[in-house]
Amino acid sequence: MNASKHAICALHEVPDGGGHEAAPAILVLRRGDEAWAYRNVCPHFSIPLNYEPDAFWTYGGGLLMCAHHSAMFRFEDGECIDGPCLGARLERVAIRIEDGRVVIDDESIT
Ligand code: FES
Repeated sequence: MNASKHAICALHEVPDGGGHEAAPAILVLRRGDEAWAYRNVCPHFSIPLNYEPDAFWTYGGGLLMCAHHSAMFRFEDGECIDGPCLGARLERVAIRIEDGRVVIDDESIT
């Protein structure tokens, strides 16, 4: 049995080298044609990574910085490589790119 799925945004809605809050509490990061999605929860204090709606701080097309205490997370695997939660990871949400859309399984957003 296949899980149901739907698009949460178009890939072009995610800034190249940046992030976009595509669904409630889900952050999509993009570099070119690649994208990754995570729960928008910092593993340091379990609060959102941003403090303004849909505004995420990214660097070099590959690092996301938490707006609160500057933890730095890699786009590719969500691992914190610098900051107060070094070695912790963002919680991955499985996505696919289909016809220029970012598609998610419905069971991933419960
Ligand atoms: S809450 Fe993200 S670094 Fe502290």
